[in-house]
Amino acid sequence: MKILGIETSCDETSAAVVEDGRKILSNIVASQIDLHQKYGGIVPEVASRKHVELILPTIQEALDTAGCKLADIDAIAAINRPGLIGALIVGVAAAKAIAYTLNLPLVAVHHLAGHIYGNFLTEVELEFPFICLIVSGGHSDIVYMTGHGEYRILARTRDDAAGEAFDKCARAMGLGYPGGPIIDKLAQDGNSDAVKFPRAKVGDSLDFSFSGLKTAVIRFVQQNETVPIEDVAASFQQAVVDVLVENTMKAAKMKGVNRVLIAGGVAANRALQRQMKERGELLGIAVSAPPPKLCTDNAAMAAAAAYFNFDEGLKDGLRMDTFASEPLGARE
Ligand code: KG4
Ligand code: ZN
Repeated sequence: MKILGIETSCDETSAAVVEDGRKILSNIVASQIDLHQKYGGIVPEVASRKHVELILPTIQEALDTAGCKLADIDAIAAINRPGLIGALIVGVAAAKAIAYTLNLPLVAVHHLAGHIYGNFLTEVELEFPFICLIVSGGHSDIVYMTGHGEYRILARTRDDAAGEAFDKCARAMGLGYPGGPIIDKLAQDGNSDAVKFPRAKVGDSLDFSFSGLKTAVIRFVQQNETVPIEDVAASFQQAVVDVLVENTMKAAKMKGVNRVLIAGGVAANRALQRQMKERGELLGIAVSAPPPKLCTDNAAMAAAAAYFNFDEGLKDGLRMDTFASEPLGARE
């Protein structure tokens, strides 16, 4: 079964063709980063307009690269929640038009489900149950999954998301947007013990809090201009990675599972991938993470999620709506 996936929830216009939920035939990501860089962040209305320009050529490119025609496609998957409404509407409208014209099934996909299923595109043996840490520009969640489409939220952030902390701290350091990849690169040449930044604990829960760390980094940068920026970057990154690894492994132990996945844009972070795997080895927990291109927003993850959750995603059909926010599952 070939599914055409479409993702426009934020600042990437993406279309992909995936066969049987695992085999990527194409995965085109048209990034708008250049456009938003001069504002230091995403301007929603600018994003929507750019999606309108890019959506049809991106879909065409995905079909061409996959060596497919629309007639070869068996279903359309569109990410419809959560995200920037004006941006989501563009992808969903394109998906509806194609589905209606060709009388194809139209499957709705939750953006965070897409991130989790990004792991299914590269790992062949992902058995339930497992714990997934989803860390992106808008979310930092620990999810317990017992089967396809069964999500229980064990932890979330009380304030900023991990990616948001990377982006805001990078801006304070004068490094540009998006901050995650820039800090990741700089940190490789820095000393992660140079500055002792706070690691926040939220009571007895596994919840995250990154706003105190963000404030500490911003204040430090203002007051210590002579400390090498690589050291600040590495020390900040280590503070984030420490709590992400600590709480995720605690969740795995709490649930008695021996598999952990990581997903979302921040999962592309090399220190996070390495340290999660190292800790997993010590504890006998298998850790999987998609390659960086499948961590950040892309449409192949939408097609994969749709394949494994087909009937559920099909319920609304052409009446599919878009939602700015919607939890992936119930809080445990
Ligand atoms: O999942 P994503 O592409 O979009 C959202 O759903 O938000 O995640 C984007 C976030 C941004 O905050 C970006 O700075 C961060 O992921 N990011 C990274 C890295 N690559 C992207 N953070 C740390 N290290 C990276 N290598
Ligand atoms: Zn995302």
